[in-house]
Amino acid sequence: MKIVVIQGPNLNMLGIREQNIYGSMKLEDIHGQMKSYAEQNKLEIEFFQSNLEGEIVDRIQECIGDADGIIINPAAYTHTSIAIRDAIAAVQLPTLEVHLSNIHQREEFRHTSLIAPVCAGQILGMGPFGYHLAMVGMSQIFNEVAAMKQHQAQAQAAAEQAK
Ligand code: DQA
Repeated sequence: MKIVVIQGPNLNMLGIREQNIYGSMKLEDIHGQMKSYAEQNKLEIEFFQSNLEGEIVDRIQECIGDADGIIINPAAYTHTSIAIRDAIAAVQLPTLEVHLSNIHQREEFRHTSLIAPVCAGQILGMGPFGYHLAMVGMSQIFNEVAAMKQHQAQAQAAAEQAK
């Protein structure tokens, strides 16, 4: 199973930007921890960061047939991007939205996420640990999907036998 991690604008500046809000951890260190979790749990993982909305839309579209789940922090585009929301809705993959900060405790323009309604879940205000929680959450989603498929296959086999 493969997870694609998508990071939006200015997240390449983690460790430098507004440390009082985002902390001192760099993006590459967060990704290092996610990679360790993926290796321990036999998951494939790929990382992508862009400051450009269209590039993020392209990367989401490329997930069709390539990924089983998406973890995304759309950063400032969370509050503005119908294009990113539509791309997530289009690919129909389980998607978890992550924010380092609690966007509801901040300026009013950050209180709305255009992305949340098309995501399976949202993790916020937990700092870099939120990405770990997203990995655990995505593993759980994968397990539930596998159990559901197995249940369906068993039910179908039983139905055919009863014919
Ligand atoms: C953010 C919150 C956004 O409002 C902001 O524009 C970001 C980061 C977060 O992770 O807390 O760039 O997504």
